Amino acid sequence: MSDERHSKSSSKLWGGRFAEATEASVEAFTASVQYDARLYRHDIMGSKAHARMLARQKLLTDDECEAILGGLDEICREIDEGIFVFRPELEDVHMNIERALTEKIGSAGEKLHTARSRNDQVSLDLRLYLREEGGNLSDLLARTQRGFVVLARKYLGTIMPGYTHLQRAQPVLLSHHLLAYCEMLERDKDRLGDCIDRLNVLPLGAAAMAGTGLPIDRESVAVELGFKGITANSMDTSGDRDFALEFLFCCTVIQLHLSRLAEELVLWSSKEFGFVEIGDRYCTGSSIMPQKKNPDIPELIRGKSGRVTGALMSLLMTVKGLPLTYNRDLQEDKEPVFDALDTVKASLSITAELLDNMSFNTEALQEATAGGFMTATDLADYLVRKNMPFRHAHGVVGRIVAHCQKKGIELDEMSVGELRDFSELIGDDIKEFLSVEGSVNSRISTGGTATVRVAEALDLAEKKLGIA
Ligand code: ARG
Repeated sequence: MSDERHSKSSSKLWGGRFAEATEASVEAFTASVQYDARLYRHDIMGSKAHARMLARQKLLTDDECEAILGGLDEICREIDEGIFVFRPELEDVHMNIERALTEKIGSAGEKLHTARSRNDQVSLDLRLYLREEGGNLSDLLARTQRGFVVLARKYLGTIMPGYTHLQRAQPVLLSHHLLAYCEMLERDKDRLGDCIDRLNVLPLGAAAMAGTGLPIDRESVAVELGFKGITANSMDTSGDRDFALEFLFCCTVIQLHLSRLAEELVLWSSKEFGFVEIGDRYCTGSSIMPQKKNPDIPELIRGKSGRVTGALMSLLMTVKGLPLTYNRDLQEDKEPVFDALDTVKASLSITAELLDNMSFNTEALQEATAGGFMTATDLADYLVRKNMPFRHAHGVVGRIVAHCQKKGIELDEMSVGELRDFSELIGDDIKEFLSVEGSVNSRISTGGTATVRVAEALDLAEKKLGIA
């Protein structure tokens, strides 16, 4: 029994100093391969670059290097094909691959880990992975933006109420509202780009945490792997997860943007608003109420912002209070990152589909602009143009609105004569200022909702997104 235990313990890659085999419960508790296996391609890519560098530095012979590269390619194929067996007792993806390599090619495989630690290796893998997934996310963001732009083009000219505090505020173009989301996603792409740019430095060479005495060449590995540079401080490198936190923050903001849209779609598809109709294929029914058509997709997108935000919080708390440098706590970085990424990708892609499969009820939108005194600011601005200080104008219009409310009428139902009772400055030209169209099209300030401005913004967005 004790012999068997001993031989089992020495089968660990780090088993040399241990007299007893690891408890099964410990293996189960500490293993990460069930989720970090998804880093295998990046792990292999990093190992190949590392092996080539070791050969250039004469730390491996060319034959050993060739054997390692061939073995790693073979392992990659096996994993691709689903025939590779990951063993939880080997902890993580790194040791599973290294062990398989040695089993395939013999002692050359045992040289791969020269001048490297899993601490710099895991940081490398995650950076390579996030760099690639950052690109995928960016593509999905652009795809979703296109959905908004196509709708904005289709409905250019449709007026709706703009809201503050969810109270009707000022009339706007529906396209202006849709393009607002396009801007949010543009910032999301930018933010993601910044994050990827910052994480795009090679951590390999930090080794466990103090660097290595072996004659490695970090710069050449960085060039081969497409990094813009190398990390500066081996201790910082070993314990740093800022890049994962930033990535999670990017994911969280994207999800929150989608969640705000989701909230609007839930409201807008209600009988109370009736602004939007989501295609039947993108809704679900009720198991008891036969009449129901529910906006489950937007609700789930909104709901999933809890878990994405939770992923960010989770890693923030994991890192808080960790002494330098690497601590095993950091293994807890991957599940939140993967889960947030999967969730955001799924949410973005279903949002894009949703945008392609909904239509707006232009009549309901137009009707909703009729009530709510939404041209009150225009009336105040009219008085400002006649040289009344804005604060006075605000007071005059406030009294007019109160009067209308008492009589149960809207601003444009007041005659010029009645309006003049509130201010001598009001003339016959007031009527054009009180129309909803007039109000929208008067807002020609850069970034405003006037049709000319929105049409410009739309042209620009189409150009940026490559829409003909
Ligand atoms: N699976 C580990 C992780 O994800 C790899 C690094 C292990 N390093 C160590 N010193 N035990 O963090």
